[in-house]
Amino acid sequence: MANTQRSALIVGASRGLGLGLVETFAERGWRVTATQRSASPALGRLASEAVRVETVDIDDDAAVAALHDRLSGERYDLVFVVAGVATQAHDPLHAVPRAVAAQVYLTNAVSPIRFAETFADRVAPGGTIAFMSSILGSVGLNESGGWESYRASKAALNTYARSFEIRHRAAGFGVLLVHPGWVRTDMGGAEADIDVATSVTGMADLIEGQLGRTGIAYRDYRGETLAW
Ligand SMILES: NC(=O)c1ccc[n+]([C@@H]2O[C@H](COP(=O)([O-])OP(=O)(O)OC[C@H]3O[C@@H](n4cnc5c(N)ncnc54)[C@H](OP(=O)(O)O)[C@@H]3O)[C@@H](O)[C@H]2O)c1
Repeated sequence: MANTQRSALIVGASRGLGLGLVETFAERGWRVTATQRSASPALGRLASEAVRVETVDIDDDAAVAALHDRLSGERYDLVFVVAGVATQAHDPLHAVPRAVAAQVYLTNAVSPIRFAETFADRVAPGGTIAFMSSILGSVGLNESGGWESYRASKAALNTYARSFEIRHRAAGFGVLLVHPGWVRTDMGGAEADIDVATSVTGMADLIEGQLGRTGIAYRDYRGETLAW
């Protein structure tokens, strides 16, 4: 019998939304490879025959290449780069040290695309490469200001993802930029609108509905299309 079990590579799964996505996809019968930057007890507790735990820092090109080698032979229906940072997100740009703003840009925009470039050859036909964006990455929907360096990094991620999709259009996978909602995680804070379970359930539904589609979409966790 052919193996029809779906497989996902979820990058940045030590806590928060990445951890929730691993749990949800595993519950739905997917085989999951989940990455942490350093040992995560919460992710370690999910390790099983269905959940393989790996370690990588997406800002480290050599570590990404080594992970690519360790996972040779694997094919994924989903590669989802979830990892992101919001360092000094509440400060206006002029109050953020240049090195901090540059690092936010590297981790949120440059590293996810470089990771996807490295792993594009591991995406199964009809699969999806997803990036964790944010509604704050929408230039058109910015009517409240704030979160300046973070917003710009996610807007850059969206722009890079569009060019990435064009570059790989013949490859047969789809590209998805996802806004998870405003979620109660370390990054989202205790006052956020929704819990992790609500967000990851919506995102998993969105992704399962996206499989087999090509092109690029920018959607929230409820499946609503967002303006660029
Ligand atoms: N929460 C929200 O309301 C919200 C809204 C919109 C978008 N997002 C986006 O959703 C994603 C996940 O956010 P979250 O709320 O779950 O945040 P979180 O709880 O702060 O988790 C961030 C995750 O990213 C990982 N990470 C950061 N830098 C990394 C790197 N260089 N290499 C590998 N992993 C790295 C962290 O690993 P460590 O544990 O090692 O630090 C952690 O697993 C982010 O991209 C964020 O921008 C969140």
